Amino acid sequence: MTYKVGYFVGSLAAGSINRILSKALIKVAPPDLEFIEIPIKDLPLYSRDYDADYPPEGLALKEAIASVDAVLFISPEYNRSIPGPLKNAIDWASRPWGHNSFARKPSALIGASTGRIGTAVMQSSLHRVLAFCDSPQLNVPEAYIHFTPEVFGKDGEIKDDETKAFLTEFMKQFREFIIRVLSVVPQNKP
Ligand code: FNR
Repeated sequence: MTYKVGYFVGSLAAGSINRILSKALIKVAPPDLEFIEIPIKDLPLYSRDYDADYPPEGLALKEAIASVDAVLFISPEYNRSIPGPLKNAIDWASRPWGHNSFARKPSALIGASTGRIGTAVMQSSLHRVLAFCDSPQLNVPEAYIHFTPEVFGKDGEIKDDETKAFLTEFMKQFREFIIRVLSVVPQNKP
């Protein structure tokens, strides 16, 4: 039995530290978690004018979320909030009304910043958004990552034992949370 996790990287930057963090997380994740990235960069800006006839990019996003057991958000903090491209993707996935892709879908949040707050303020916003979208969320452990090249290699190697242990525990707890939610909450069928 494996569990599929769809992950969102909230940055479009070529050298994104959050993409590096995504690689690190996949390396330390329990072996029965299977990861697929859910891409956000080609989505048009959402408008409710699309609701009657979603474009292929919007449909692909919703199908990708429907095909996984859980979603993981790995995102920077921009101006103390959620980066625009990620919020845009969430808005697409949440609509049309009555077809919210996040309903009952277990989720977890994590983010890396060059600053010491480590995306805490962004995560506070994202928790509220996902609560409104009816996604059961992993609340503990919280994971605010202060990114430095001394700790992370560019392919996601984790050079610091304490950080490695923390991220390993985070993914272990996420796995247990997914199993708990799936065992008690009926999932929406695609
Ligand atoms: C930032 N950065 C930033 N950092 C932070 O800790 N809190 C913040 O509110 C912001 N705001 C912000 C806005 C914008 C527009 C940019 C471009 C950057 C710095 C940010 O942590 C840093 O650029 C990271 O490298 C961004 O993550 P990615 O894109 O490398 O994954």
